[in-house]
Amino acid sequence: MRAAVSSKTVDPGQFTLSSRSGSRGGIADIAAHWTKDNAELAERSDIVILSVRPAQFGDVRIDLRNKLAVSVMAGVTCAAIAEQTNAKRIVRAIPNAAAAIGRSFTPWFATADVTDSDKAVVQAFFAASGEAAEVPEESYINYCVGLTGSGAAFPALLVEAMVAEAVAQGLTREFGEKAARSVVCDASQLFAGGTGNTAAIVKEMIDYRGTTAAALQAMINHGFMEAVSAGLRAAAAKAATIAHGQNADAQADKNT
Ligand SMILES: NC(=O)c1ccc[n+]([C@@H]2O[C@H](COP(=O)([O-])OP(=O)(O)OC[C@H]3O[C@@H](n4cnc5c(N)ncnc54)[C@H](OP(=O)(O)O)[C@@H]3O)[C@@H](O)[C@H]2O)c1
Repeated sequence: MRAAVSSKTVDPGQFTLSSRSGSRGGIADIAAHWTKDNAELAERSDIVILSVRPAQFGDVRIDLRNKLAVSVMAGVTCAAIAEQTNAKRIVRAIPNAAAAIGRSFTPWFATADVTDSDKAVVQAFFAASGEAAEVPEESYINYCVGLTGSGAAFPALLVEAMVAEAVAQGLTREFGEKAARSVVCDASQLFAGGTGNTAAIVKEMIDYRGTTAAALQAMINHGFMEAVSAGLRAAAAKAATIAHGQNADAQADKNT
């Protein structure tokens, strides 16, 4: 939302925001209209963004017939949103935490009733905090919970794995962290923002047959690709359990 305002995609006065407690979180400074009444929010809005935790959605009473409903909730299906809100024009999107620095990649799916002009608004809104792209099937949204919704978690795990190995070799954690962050956070800038070709970087290193090739080959031989694949599929499976109403309470306190 902050990115949509700062990029002038949406005028702050066009937003109506609601929370039950009146809490304004980190966006209290934005000059939007605030309410604790979701019916008032719906009345004032043509587009309603559903951004409660999946386990909280069951308690949201709001009539969205003739509105565009945009959900960022992980795992809550278009069918469930339609049943509970009467909305027919529904978009599901999965932003990630990098939206805060304008670098989210946000996949979104639209139901058949969503118009081209709705889609243009959705694309502009999410592109304001990075990039956005429509997916052709709703099932891809569950998959994208792991693929993109994980934010900084996967690179943080890679840093932790490198630090653990450096410490095992006798280096201090502080030294290992500086070394691993330099590789994961800084060297990756060489292909950040769509610059550089990652497949070419890996191929060039393997073809060179040097020390990095030895490391890459050992990681691949020890199941690196399979581990990543298993992780992404586990996230999608977890998202599907929320979709089917299972384990929603356990999810309530967790991020995507
Ligand atoms: N964080 C991410 O990176 C990320 C990425 C992709 C998707 N998501 C999705 O975004 C959603 C929100 O996540 P979050 O981390 O922002 O959760 P959060 O910090 O818990 O925020 C949820 C907000 O919803 C409000 N709320 C709950 N029930 C309400 C109701 N009935 N009516 C009005 N407001 C209500 C809460 O305020 P009150 O308690 O005062 O009502 C709170 O402000 C989740 O579904 C999550 O899956 C998050």
